[in-house]
Amino acid sequence: MSGTPNWRDLVVTMDDRSLDALALAADATVESLRETTSGPRSDRAPAAIRALVRSLDICPDEPTELATVLADFATAAWTHGVVPSDPACVAHLHPPTLQPAVVTELAIAATNQSMDSWDQAPAATEIELYLMEWLAGLIGFPDSGSGVMTSGGTASNLLGVTLARSWAAANAGVDVLKTGLPPEAADWRILCSDQAHFSVHRAAAQLGLGRDAVIVVATTSSGSLDVSALDHELQRLESAGRRAIAIVGTAGTTDLGAIDPLTEVAERARRHGAWFHVDAAVAGALLLSDRLRGELAGIELADSVTIDFHKLWWQPFNASALVVRDEARFELLRVRSDYLDRGDELEGMVNLVGRSLDTSRRFDAAKVVVTLRTLGRCALSDMLEHLLDLASYAGSMIAAEPTLELVATPTLTTCVFGAPGASADDLRRVQQRLLARGAMVLGRTQIKGRAALKFTFMNPLTSNEDVERLVGMVVDELRAAVGS
Ligand SMILES: Cc1ncc(COP(=O)(O)O)c(C=O)c1O
Repeated sequence: MSGTPNWRDLVVTMDDRSLDALALAADATVESLRETTSGPRSDRAPAAIRALVRSLDICPDEPTELATVLADFATAAWTHGVVPSDPACVAHLHPPTLQPAVVTELAIAATNQSMDSWDQAPAATEIELYLMEWLAGLIGFPDSGSGVMTSGGTASNLLGVTLARSWAAANAGVDVLKTGLPPEAADWRILCSDQAHFSVHRAAAQLGLGRDAVIVVATTSSGSLDVSALDHELQRLESAGRRAIAIVGTAGTTDLGAIDPLTEVAERARRHGAWFHVDAAVAGALLLSDRLRGELAGIELADSVTIDFHKLWWQPFNASALVVRDEARFELLRVRSDYLDRGDELEGMVNLVGRSLDTSRRFDAAKVVVTLRTLGRCALSDMLEHLLDLASYAGSMIAAEPTLELVATPTLTTCVFGAPGASADDLRRVQQRLLARGAMVLGRTQIKGRAALKFTFMNPLTSNEDVERLVGMVVDELRAAVGS
């Protein structure tokens, strides 16, 4: 690996020489990670990071030794990144990753299967299908259940709402992919809670329905959809001659981790002829736990479900799935093409492009399968249960701390809180100062218009002592912010 490289040696092939060189390069890459900052992030200001990054010559005319490139890159990128495995990195649903998945990323890149067509990914297609069918079974779907991997919860929700829209159109005798939205689409509505992820609104916008087509339903104090408010909105729609084409339930809201009453929402969707999509990007992992699975009762009644492996399944980005109860529904999306999905392939050759909004696509299913097989369900379930216990512990500490106040009792892995007498500006200062110093990457949000801070526990190695330290740091910073 030492010396200036010749491009011929850098083309990855499956011969021994190339693989030996790849192993050496992988070692050097791992070495470069030792440059990673200690703490959740470095204390460099944005302008200093920009200057450091821009000191790299992105594309010099002549080659450079890989070890040098990796070392420079580590100084610019890894030293000034965030460290999701640090216990003080608690802002977002941003997990540390698992070793089996990380090393499989190398194999995914080296083999570069493309998931759009069987002739670019024969076994990979079968593995993705197998994983999707397993997941459909875990959800409780019938044997017709299957799915497709996507780049994230946003993409999975878009795909779910796209299917809902095509289904509504098909029921009205319209091929929306061919002729576009029919005039009656002006009366189509999508319902979701006021805590649903913004990607639902964005999907409505992208699909030509418009954000105004989303009816936001009130939630209870815990953040889960209020069924009587849903009934009220459905009644109003009916009286106005409008049509609910989809109801989106959330299983694990971004901030409070609330799970909507899925069985009751499913019943309303069925009664009103609406597609029932469940955004379980966050809480989908509860399906792995004997203790927690019951919280998702009713998910098996959905038409489609979003599950993010790159959240509480500790996969590197990107890894999400859109799972449907009946794989035939993917026909609603299919766009044939002369070179890729011709429809005349040999028996058994499935072209996944027919299910996806992407064409070329990574073999992300590989890392998920390698992880599941290496850790096993029980370990993943223990890790998840530990995170829920941490959030509860943080909740009990905050409830007992006079300078802080809980917004809601934690239900999943987040703990959302404010401070009596502190303004939104005070909370902003707390979060920004901790970030600027590189001491903590703390969450900041609004719940029903009220500013709040948030711990999101994603690291299963975090301990109760870490939680005590984090709460202490926030209390100290709050005193300083309110005093300043
Ligand atoms: C409930 C929920 N749905 C969807 C998403 C979007 O997921 P992604 O960031 O993978 O697109 C998020 C992100 O946090 C989320 O919390």
